[in-house]
Amino acid sequence: MRKIEQLEMAGITKLFHGVPANKDINLSIRSGEILGLLGENGAGKTTLMNILYGLYQPDAGQVLINGKPVRISSPQESKMHGIGMVHQHFMLIESHSAMENICLGYDAAPLVFPKAKLKRQIIEFSRKFNFDVDLDKPIWQLSAGEQQRVEIIKALFNGADLLILDEPTSVLTPQEIKELFVILNKMKDEGHLIILISHKLDEIMELCDRVTVLQKGAIVGDAETKDVDKKILARMMIGRDVIFNIEREEIPSSDRVLSVDKVVVTSDKGIPVVSNISFDLYRNEIFGIAGVSGNGQKELVEAITGLRKIESGSIVLDDQEISNLSPRAIYDKGISHVPEERIKFGIAPGLFLYENAILKQHHLKKFASRLSLAYNTVKDHTRGLIESFQVHAPGISIPTKNLSGGNIQKLILGREIDDNPPVLVASHPTYGLDVGATEYLRKQLLKRRKEGGAVLLVSEDLEEIFELCDRVAVIFKGEFMGVLKADDPKLCDIGLMMAGSLRI
Ligand SMILES: Nc1ncnc2c1ncn2[C@@H]1O[C@H](COP(=O)(O)OP(=O)(O)OP(=O)(O)O)[C@@H](O)[C@H]1O
Ligand SMILES: [Mg+2]
Repeated sequence: MRKIEQLEMAGITKLFHGVPANKDINLSIRSGEILGLLGENGAGKTTLMNILYGLYQPDAGQVLINGKPVRISSPQESKMHGIGMVHQHFMLIESHSAMENICLGYDAAPLVFPKAKLKRQIIEFSRKFNFDVDLDKPIWQLSAGEQQRVEIIKALFNGADLLILDEPTSVLTPQEIKELFVILNKMKDEGHLIILISHKLDEIMELCDRVTVLQKGAIVGDAETKDVDKKILARMMIGRDVIFNIEREEIPSSDRVLSVDKVVVTSDKGIPVVSNISFDLYRNEIFGIAGVSGNGQKELVEAITGLRKIESGSIVLDDQEISNLSPRAIYDKGISHVPEERIKFGIAPGLFLYENAILKQHHLKKFASRLSLAYNTVKDHTRGLIESFQVHAPGISIPTKNLSGGNIQKLILGREIDDNPPVLVASHPTYGLDVGATEYLRKQLLKRRKEGGAVLLVSEDLEEIFELCDRVAVIFKGEFMGVLKADDPKLCDIGLMMAGSLRI
């Protein structure tokens, strides 16, 4: 028996330190419906869903299930009511295996935990999705895409009536997104209720029946998707038009800046995960690495940025060998890095905004004054960064973790790009950004390219790869299946290359 036929949020208001994150929100969803929740970074989407999931208590308003008010004071209570959630930032336990994480919160466990049986069921379940995850690996060894798959399997396996998905597809491949959508549509047909938060308007248009748009904590629009299009939605969200296809001007290629030669890197388990990869990166170039996450791109990026040792081969920056130098030394030589798991590796969540704004630069002369930081300079710098990268924050002396997901991303991107690094290594740089911020960031990357910078772009978003890159490498099981110019017609077979069935 389905517990939820209809769910309503009525007059929900949530304040943080007196500032409203949600203002008098009224929202309703019924069985067999998929509702999209849209809004700029910081609009209040995650806060609203965290209320439904029992992580926050509203200051006013109530939740009604089948017309009756209910109390949801913890995630356990929320689960009891039949609500499940895939979180924007992964909430997995690092040292536990993927399997253990999926089983956490599994209610039907009898006295002795049926590990083997559950494992079989989970394997079967993930096969149904075509989600490939090594269930025995601890979470800390998994790439962001793999962790996202684990989060989704976990939420679905625990079988909720109402499923909340907070940006579930940010690091999935197009193929995986397709599979997920098949499942979600099936759930909808079975009478489930689904709320999807996404910045990808195509996804909202494809999957949702209805969409609700938030702006600065309040609802500014509500529409059936059949009555609107992407442009209208973007305008509702950010109050202006957005360019969906940015022009990339032709620039002749220039000097080589980075040379990666026959690099071999092993995983945390000592198994080779990057085998003999070679490529050159030139000034005025954006070089893309496309592939399903978990095929070695994480380890390759870590090797280039000094976070992981290489077993053999060489990495040369401007004629200097840099392989196996410390991350700090590599950064100082001119390689900036936007890591894929930005919240985990890109910031110290408890530190203030102005501290995170100079996280890797605090030792530089411009921010130091004798024995301490030059606080006024640092704060001025932070204010500049926030303004140019449009980070919405109530102030710079607040813990960074209090910003919305997308705004944390913008702060890190600003920090890494603002200094005009000769080489920028960026993994999924626009993941989590709203359409306006994505447009801005892509323009920034093209600006770096024009000014002589080189960008190594790791992404699973093919649209992004094609829009920005001059050349594209496709990685599969630690090897390049081919390196092609972005306008090469052979790239129409990129899907086959990503799956490892075609080498060019
Ligand atoms: N724990 C908290 N303490 C203080 N302020 C918070 C907290 N959580 C969220 N906020 C603030 O509430 C507002 C809404 O944030 P929320 O995370 O809900 O946005 P969002 O719509 O999910 O954005 P994004 O697309 O970037 O994920 C933001 O201004 C944010 O700074
Ligand atoms: Mg959010």
